[in-house]
Amino acid sequence: MKGFTFSGFLAVCLSLTTSQVNAGFDEVKFPEGYQTQFIRYAAIDKPKKRKVRFFYVNPEALAAAQPGGPLPDGTVIIMEDHPAVLDTNKEPVTDGNGRLIPTAKVSNVFVQERRKGWGTQHAAETRNGEWEYAWYTADGKPKTSKKTGKLVTFGKCMACHKKAAAQDYNFTLSPFITKIKGMK
Ligand code: HEC
Repeated sequence: MKGFTFSGFLAVCLSLTTSQVNAGFDEVKFPEGYQTQFIRYAAIDKPKKRKVRFFYVNPEALAAAQPGGPLPDGTVIIMEDHPAVLDTNKEPVTDGNGRLIPTAKVSNVFVQERRKGWGTQHAAETRNGEWEYAWYTADGKPKTSKKTGKLVTFGKCMACHKKAAAQDYNFTLSPFITKIKGMK
């Protein structure tokens, strides 16, 4: 074959492989045992979505995190969705404090994890520092799109979490650290 070089062939193979890698699932593994080993730092009611969201962080990261700064290398944050208990009209039931009541069922496990050297495969304008994202089902399987049946990708996660760039690309943990470790 004219013009064939092994290095050119290798470059094509590598680019094919790279385009098939789904950065999130490739790097951010399902954090087995998080319900017992991580710290649950928040619960947020989502009445319109008929959900209660639980938020967890790994204890080492919580211990090392400093208010106002980036979160430590190795931080794993989880957002776990629970369908809320509904009444006969399919409206969420509230407890004595006006809070929704979560069912035991887990409907989604969203993860964001930060590690030294991560994020380099993204273009500068899409990259969220060293954070990567993943979305799992309750039993730890990578989430697939209902429409296409293919594994979900994380462009939308990154774009929306960019709004929180000033607090290290997360919405709830950094403010919580500031609250408990005391900086205004
Ligand atoms: C349209 C904006 C938006 C998109 C898209 C989005 N998120 Fe979020 N995410 C939020 C907001 C806002 C919160 C804070 C909790 C809340 O209000 O539900 C949050 C919270 C989280 C948290 C808990 C840590 C934190 O930042 O507070 C994780 C983990 C998370 N999201 C992962 C993901 C993943 C994975 C995806 C993509 C599959 C994703 N998010 C897509 C807006 C978004």
